[in-house]
Amino acid sequence: MTSPSAPPADPTAAIDRALAELREAFLPRFRAATTEQALRDENAKILGKKGELTAILKLLGQAPPAGRKAIGEKVNALKQEVESGFEGCLRDLRGKEREAELSAPPFDLTLPGRVPSGVGHKHPISIVREEVVAVFRQLGFAVHDGPDVEHEANNFTLLGFPPDHPATDMQDSFWTESGHILRTHTSNIQIRAMKGQKPPMAFIAPGTVYRRDDDATHSPMFHQIEAFLVDRRVTLAHLKGVLAEFAERLYGPGTPVRLRPSYFPFVEPGAEVDIGCVFCRQSDGTRAGCNLCKHTGFIEILGCGMIHPVVLENCGIDPEEWSGFALGMGLERIAMLRYGIPNIRLMFDNDPRFLSQF
Ligand code: DAH
Repeated sequence: MTSPSAPPADPTAAIDRALAELREAFLPRFRAATTEQALRDENAKILGKKGELTAILKLLGQAPPAGRKAIGEKVNALKQEVESGFEGCLRDLRGKEREAELSAPPFDLTLPGRVPSGVGHKHPISIVREEVVAVFRQLGFAVHDGPDVEHEANNFTLLGFPPDHPATDMQDSFWTESGHILRTHTSNIQIRAMKGQKPPMAFIAPGTVYRRDDDATHSPMFHQIEAFLVDRRVTLAHLKGVLAEFAERLYGPGTPVRLRPSYFPFVEPGAEVDIGCVFCRQSDGTRAGCNLCKHTGFIEILGCGMIHPVVLENCGIDPEEWSGFALGMGLERIAMLRYGIPNIRLMFDNDPRFLSQF
C-alpha cells in the first residue's frame, strides 16, 4: 500500500503498455470465437462495464493532468478499433452461418410428420349442444344469443313470474350487488328476441344458466337450450310436430313423444315432454322398463308450451294477431341420458379419463 502522503506513481507508461497489448490481442480473440454468443462475450470482456478497456480508462485519473488528454484520445481510438473489429467479425460469422445453412442438405419434405399425442376433443355438453342446434337449424330456426347477467325483468317479470315467486328468492337465484341476476334459464332470450323484432320469428338459443342448487343431479351452473317460434295461427299441433321431428332426429326414427300437462308462468297451456326411454325402449305400456326410466318406459326431456298472451303483450306483440310456442331443455340432462352418465358432477370435473370416452 502506498502511504497517503506519497504522490501516486505516474501510470502513463503502464497504460500505454496495456493499450498496446490489448491492440495486439483483441482481433485474434474475436476471430477465435465460433459462435455469435462467444463473440459477444469476448466483446463484453473488453468493452463491458467491467471490461479490460474500461479498467484501463479508470487508471486515467492517476495520470498527471497534463498527459490525460493524450491518453484519453488513445483509449478512445482503441475503443473504436475494437468496436469496428467486433462488427467485422460479427458480419463474417453470420455470413459463414448463412453459407452453412444454404449448403446443408435440404429438408426432406416427404418425411412423415410427428403424430401429436393427447389431442383435445369436444366435451359431451358441446357435442349435444351442437347436435340439438343442428336439428333446429335444419327446421329453420336461427341461433340467438343473450347475456348471462340479466335484468330481473327479462328473466322473471316480463315472463309472467309474480314478484313473490320462489325462483326470485335469494335462496334460489344468484343476484349481483347491482341488483342484476345470473339468468336462471334461457327463457330470457324469448323476451330479448320478441322485444327486439317483429314476428314472424323462430329462434334457438343455447346458453349457460345459474341456480343455487348442488347435488348429484344438479349443478349451480348448467346449460340450457331454448327454442321458440312466433307466427300467425301457430297452434299446439305445430309444437308437437316440431317435438316429434326433434326426437326422431336426435334419438332415431320412431322415438315416441308424449306431452304431460304442466305449469310454467310464461306458457299456456304448458307441458312436460317425455320421450320413449332410450335405454330400455319399452314405452309400450308393459311397464317392464329399466331403472333409468323408473319402469315407466318414458324419460322427461324438456318443458314447453304455447307462449302466454301476456308475455307476447309484454314484448309489444299483439296476441290477437300472433301466437307462438316455446320449449326449453337442460343440456346436461340430454347428455346424461345420451351417454348414461350417472352423476352431473362428472361433466364439470374435466377429468381426462372421463372426457376421453366421448
Ligand atoms: N325455463 C324453464 C326452466 O328452466 C324451461 C322451459 C319450460 C322453457 C317451458 C320453455 C317452456 O320455453 O315453454 O325450467
